[in-house]
Amino acid sequence: MKVLSVSSEVFPLVKTGGLADVAGALPIALKRFGVETKTLMPGYPAVMKAIRKPVARLQFDDLLGEPATVLEVEHEGIDILVLDAPAYYDRAGGPYLDATGRDYPDNWRRFAALSLAGAEIAAGLMPGWRPDLVHTHDWQSAMTSVYMRYYPTPELPSVLTIHNIAFQGQFGADVFPGLRLPPHAFATESIEYYGNVGFLKGGLQTAHAITTVSPSYAGEILTPEFGMGLQGVITSRIDSLHGIVNGIDTDVWNPSTDPVVHTHYNGTTLKSRVENRTSIAEFFGLHNDNAPIFSIISRLTWQKGMDVIAATADQIVDMGGKLAILGSGDAALEGSLLAAAARHPGRIGVSIGYNEPMSHLMQAGSDAIIIPSRFEPCGLTQLYGLRYGCVPIVARTGGLNDTVIDANHAALAAKVATGIQFSPVTASGLLQAIRRALLLYADQKVWTQLQKQGMKSDVSWEKSAERYAALYSSLAPKGK
Ligand code: ADP
Ligand code: GLC
Repeated sequence: MKVLSVSSEVFPLVKTGGLADVAGALPIALKRFGVETKTLMPGYPAVMKAIRKPVARLQFDDLLGEPATVLEVEHEGIDILVLDAPAYYDRAGGPYLDATGRDYPDNWRRFAALSLAGAEIAAGLMPGWRPDLVHTHDWQSAMTSVYMRYYPTPELPSVLTIHNIAFQGQFGADVFPGLRLPPHAFATESIEYYGNVGFLKGGLQTAHAITTVSPSYAGEILTPEFGMGLQGVITSRIDSLHGIVNGIDTDVWNPSTDPVVHTHYNGTTLKSRVENRTSIAEFFGLHNDNAPIFSIISRLTWQKGMDVIAATADQIVDMGGKLAILGSGDAALEGSLLAAAARHPGRIGVSIGYNEPMSHLMQAGSDAIIIPSRFEPCGLTQLYGLRYGCVPIVARTGGLNDTVIDANHAALAAKVATGIQFSPVTASGLLQAIRRALLLYADQKVWTQLQKQGMKSDVSWEKSAERYAALYSSLAPKGK
């Protein structure tokens, strides 16, 4: 089966979060289920710089007002279709935000153009290759299935994956003419959303199947608390909704081969982790003593519960923990975490920024990773933690709930526990979890058992890729 995946980020070419990891790893995992994927993504400067010997496959003179070329290239095992459209993507700043941190004002056109290019490829416009199915991700490519519905293209099945319903791609009704859709597309059963235009809303109405990245989150987004306004639309499509938990690329994330990890180890050589721990302590300016290092690798936002970390940092230190925090995000949160580090030199270290190698080393050397998210569609850092023997301490929500087995008495006795879950995401909820972690850590035999059990968890893409492949086949039976 041939699949066109459309994504606004793909690891290792460009990454702002877990979407990139998934868009990069899933096509590779799907190969062994007979699925051949080409992934369409924007030609941001970093992408144009990284690709070697691309081949031009398709030319648009006027893609929503600008010229564009689709280039095909093989990059680290992924077949990539780069949408080279300098007017849309050749900019200083990130994929979505300008250098000052503001949304580009024409994001609607930038990602509608990506989606329209996807729909044109789906229609067979690219010589020599036409997919059997289209798989889109989040609001940035959700318009693909909208264009597929209204453009006179042969019917082709589509799957939309919701990675985070908090980001919906909503724009004023004034952008509608620029989308070049027929007037009747501005309707409730399509992209109209309370008088505005909703990209994700349109995708949810037009995709043949909807998936989200964990079973728990699939249930949560049916409720007003987590559905963020779209719970009604999702509920109306419940028969087409599937929760498939993310996996991770176990080759990229492997503690016995990871090139950025100084000292390699496996489940039987966990003691070697201490050398990686020393490197982290050095990097974050932490005392290299026996107190456990709790890591945080995260966007610094309210979703991720980072205000709760700032509010409890003093007590975590008082209780005997150390914090190593890597991330960037809200300026106010960055400021309060840096202030906490200034109050506790040697006990709290904060590094503001994005640092892929350090994120690996932290999983390989710190004792636990704290993930106090208020909502978490899947979450990947707990999966990396499990794989690296870095015990996850997680809020009981979404994918965190589905992937970490809480070290309650019964689970410990049965030797199946892999981490700690807590609820609610409040200062006292988190502190109670930290207290439990410190008690477990004090008994090294129990802690080691937790680490080993975590490392035995199946966090690979194997089972989930099989589920995607089965879903694809149910929508587009092979040979059709
Ligand atoms: P989200 O996509 O909501 O941010 P995920 O847990 O799914 O959350 O994915 C986050 C990804 O980004 C993980 O691969 C994590 O290691 C990485 N990450 C987050 N912040 C940083 C950072 N400051 N430096 C390096 N990697 C980071
Ligand atoms: C989103 C979610 C995160 C998920 C990732 C990949 O960014 O916030 O929970 O792991 O997408 O699916």
